[in-house]
Amino acid sequence: MKNNFLWGVANAAFQVEGSPKPSDWTAWTEEKGRIFDGSNAEKATDFWNRYEEDLKLAADLGSKAFRMSVAWERIETSEGVFEKSAIEQYRKIIQAVRAHGMEPLLTLHHFVNPLWLAKKGGVLAPDFPELFARFSVFVVGELSKDDLVLQWSTFNEPNIVAVACFLAGEFPPGAKNDFKRATQATFQLSRAHILAVSALRKEVLPRFPKVKVGIVIHLRDFQPKTRNPLDRLIAKISDWTFNRQILKAALTGKIFAWYPGSKFYREDLSHLYDRKGIDFLGINYYGRTMVKFQWTPPFVAISEGEDGPKNDMGWEIYPQGLENVLCDAHRRYGLPILITENGTADHDDSRRPEFIREHLRALKRAIDKGVPVEGYLHWSLTDNFEWAHGHKPRFGLVEIDYATMARKPRPSYYLYQKLIREYSTHDTAIHAPDVSKNA
Ligand code: FCB
Repeated sequence: MKNNFLWGVANAAFQVEGSPKPSDWTAWTEEKGRIFDGSNAEKATDFWNRYEEDLKLAADLGSKAFRMSVAWERIETSEGVFEKSAIEQYRKIIQAVRAHGMEPLLTLHHFVNPLWLAKKGGVLAPDFPELFARFSVFVVGELSKDDLVLQWSTFNEPNIVAVACFLAGEFPPGAKNDFKRATQATFQLSRAHILAVSALRKEVLPRFPKVKVGIVIHLRDFQPKTRNPLDRLIAKISDWTFNRQILKAALTGKIFAWYPGSKFYREDLSHLYDRKGIDFLGINYYGRTMVKFQWTPPFVAISEGEDGPKNDMGWEIYPQGLENVLCDAHRRYGLPILITENGTADHDDSRRPEFIREHLRALKRAIDKGVPVEGYLHWSLTDNFEWAHGHKPRFGLVEIDYATMARKPRPSYYLYQKLIREYSTHDTAIHAPDVSKNA
């Protein structure tokens, strides 16, 4: 792989920082039964204070990049009131990322809304897109000064936001099977991305010509459960609704939002784009989804694949899907790609080593086929607060002892370190590196 390949790790503000400011998620964790193990993110991993230690672990791993997000609720504490001290702390953290020789990759919105915004309706608040654009202009204007941050993503997984908030009921406000609101959320998030990118390109980026803007989407490899044509059709429709509709809007400025059971929400904002809507595509890959047609709404029944081993959350481990989604995204969009997340919940580190090896092999196959992947960020450096699942799932290359906050690298940390070294010294896209099984 190319020498400048961005090997690294990822985290997100609410999941690691601790001492959170009031948000829809702090309110959600206070509601009984919302977090399956009863935990909350009050302390999380205390990254806000212990970032030096974590950044050193990331750098020692061989990371060339570090993906993190900013917490909107820390920065805009009430509507229109921006907190300089929060920006200063982020500046310090990001300077430390650079001091450790890593490229900071920043996300503006990773699932969480300030409480004042949640009270107005969160992503469904009529002015959510305008508020997000204003917030983006402020943050990028501050943190891209002196070329501190050169790569920004607007949203992390807006497609998961629509589904988890309004179909699965796992994120606030916890609605289930509300296809109308899932569609409205899809519309609002698409619109917010478009307004933010257009405002950034007009108001901020002329000062920072090196800055790139993208979006991070969760891509699943949708596969029909049988060869029945209806199953195949519904697999294609699922691919469109979940994987592609927000990306299409983000790229073209034309929104056409729809989930089965809802009317269409559309708007043509392409006049706001004087050039393409994103410079790169961030892909989070966790697995495939088997789909089967059913005669009752929403006309699709989904399940995990059954061939591969399962992780601690019951998710099938399916490395081939990474190659599949990468090749498909390349064919459709032709953009530079970053794998912004890929990882697994594995408390005793029994499956993660194989997970990493096989996913990197799949990545390599995609690169060898010509997919322009610029980096791979493992989710996650440390264990952290896994949303509705609380602290139970262990996604870290580094274990956190929540009683003492001590960090302890797992065997897979050393394996990933070794693989980064091996893949980096084989600076070729032709020969697969000698990836020894006994790391
Ligand atoms: C992704 C999220 C990330 C983390 C992983 C396990 O969908 O972006 O915050 O929860 O899943």
